[in-house]
Amino acid sequence: MVSGNSNQISNFWMLLLLAIGAYLVHGHKGTKVGFYSTTCPQAESIVSSTVQCHFNSDHTVAAGLLRMHFHDCFMRGCDASVLIVDPNTQKKAVANLGLRGYEVIDDAKTQLEAACPGVVSFTDILALAARDSVVKVNGSSWVVPTGRRDGRVSLVSDADNLPAFNDSIDVQKQKFSALGLNTQDLVVLVGNLT
Ligand code: HEM
Ligand SMILES: *[C@@H]1O[C@H](CO)[C@@H](O)[C@H](O)[C@H]1NC(C)=O
Ligand SMILES: *[C@@H]1O[C@H](CO)[C@@H](O)[C@H](O)[C@H]1NC(C)=O
Repeated sequence: MVSGNSNQISNFWMLLLLAIGAYLVHGHKGTKVGFYSTTCPQAESIVSSTVQCHFNSDHTVAAGLLRMHFHDCFMRGCDASVLIVDPNTQKKAVANLGLRGYEVIDDAKTQLEAACPGVVSFTDILALAARDSVVKVNGSSWVVPTGRRDGRVSLVSDADNLPAFNDSIDVQKQKFSALGLNTQDLVVLVGNLT
C-alpha cells in the first residue's frame, strides 16, 4: 500500500515535471504539433497534396526537398532563410547551387495564401514538405512541430556551417555538434542516404 501510494505520488511529480518541461520547451520555441489546427486546419493537407502532385511528375523532387530542409536548418536554424532571394543570400553559396524543389514550396505557399492569408510560414511549409517527401519515398515519418517564424537574414557566409564533401570526420562532427547533434545523429542522417 505504502509503496503503491509513493508510486502514485512519484508518478504525479513525474507527470508534473513532464508537463512543465513540455511547457518550457514549447513555450521557449513557440512551436507545437498542430499549431495551425484552428487558424488553418487544412495547412498540413495542402502541403501534403502539393508535394504529392509534384512528386507524381518527378519522384526525385523528394530528395531535393529533404536536402533543402537540412541545409536551411544548418544555416541560422530552420527559418526558411534558404529561400530568401537577393544578391548575397544563402542561395548563392556554392554548397546551395544544387538545391531544388523551390517550385513546390512556392506552389504550396500560393495555395495556403488563398486558403488562409498570412498564416502559414515558409519555414513550416518546408519542414512539412521535407517530412512528406520522405514519407512518399517510403521512408519513416515524424511529427513536425509548427509555428516557426521565417527569418529575415540570409548571408552567403551562412553556408560555412554546412558540412562540406571534403570535410574531415572531425570537422563534420564539430558542425553537427554545434547544432546539438551528436555523432550518432551524424551517422544515422548521413548513413541513411547511401
Ligand atoms: C556530412 C554531411 C553531408 C555532406 C558532406 C553532404 C554533401 C552532399 C553533396 C556534395 C551532394 C550532391 C550535390 C550535387 O551534386 O548537386 C548532396 C546531395 C544530397 N544530400 Fe547531402 N550531404 C550531407 C548530409 C546530408 C544530410 C544530413 C541530408 C538529409 C538529411 C542530406 C541530403 C541530401 C540529399 C537528399 C541529396 C540529393 C539532393 C538532390 O537529388 O537534389 N545530405 N549532399
Ligand atoms: C513505396 O511503396 C509502395 C507500396 O508498397 C510502392 O508501390 C512504391 O513503389 C514505393 N515507392 C518507392 C519510391 O519506393
Ligand atoms: C574543399 O574543397 C574546396 C573546393 O574544391 C576547397 O576550396 C577547400 O579548401 C577544401 N576544403 C578542405 C577542408 O580540404
